[in-house]
Amino acid sequence: MSDSDTPKFDVKAFANTLVADIESNRIRLPTLPAISLEALLVVNDAASSMADVARIISKDTSMAARLVRYANSPLYRGVSTVTSVKMAITRIGFDAVKNAILSLAMRDVFTTAFRPLQSRMEALWKHSVDVATKATLLASHFSHLNKDEAMLAGLIHDVGVIPVLIKATEYPFLLESEENLDKVVDKLHMPIGKFMLSRWNFDPALVDVAASHDKLDRVPKGDKVDYVDIIQVANILSHQGTEQRWAGLDISSNLACIRVGLDLIANLDKSVQVEEDESELSDMLN
Ligand SMILES: [Fe+2]
Ligand SMILES: [Fe+2]
Repeated sequence: MSDSDTPKFDVKAFANTLVADIESNRIRLPTLPAISLEALLVVNDAASSMADVARIISKDTSMAARLVRYANSPLYRGVSTVTSVKMAITRIGFDAVKNAILSLAMRDVFTTAFRPLQSRMEALWKHSVDVATKATLLASHFSHLNKDEAMLAGLIHDVGVIPVLIKATEYPFLLESEENLDKVVDKLHMPIGKFMLSRWNFDPALVDVAASHDKLDRVPKGDKVDYVDIIQVANILSHQGTEQRWAGLDISSNLACIRVGLDLIANLDKSVQVEEDESELSDMLN
């Protein structure tokens, strides 16, 4: 079909309606689980102690078990095994525990009750976990980057796709053709992701990731590798071997890959330890 045969679809009008829907809460976006929101409120309150956070998290046995697992994961592997929520928070540290809570809550955000979207949402979650684990491993090579933040960055980089998919259910033109939907998702998921994460008060570094991860020609703000670089590289690696875009991209000419280091990238998947770590992290997030 040539372009002239394609029915006109106004992406800009679609984007404007979507933003207005989000602003006025007219669109039902997935939310974080109540226990995570409660825990985040406590973490963000300067008057709270580790014991306060531990008390909230312990109310939910599944969340408690997952946080303990997080503290024993390759992110924090220590000499001794952590066995309680309190020990887990101590090991993770009060500052990073916020990222841990958000990462462990993300699974619920990538779900939908709308059947026609389920397989797409499932695939998006799988991709996000893949990018998150790769980003964590890459970030571990840079002392100025934080592994928890890199993991969360991977999980949220494509979060802007979700509202686009939900809104698309009102447009048969988009639901009928994967190709049409892909085009709209590609165009809008970064600005929408940026908009969502700013509203949710995420760290500016993470908002940047949502806003710019697919811009291969972006101009970095500083000399040091940042989270956008890490996610761009993890994203490119995640698409390798698939038929999706960038599958055949020449890594050696991509600026983010050069900044992160071509040798590091080439050797990333080579060790057994890395493979084990990757699958352990991905199990933990699911
Ligand atoms: Fe993306
Ligand atoms: Fe992606």
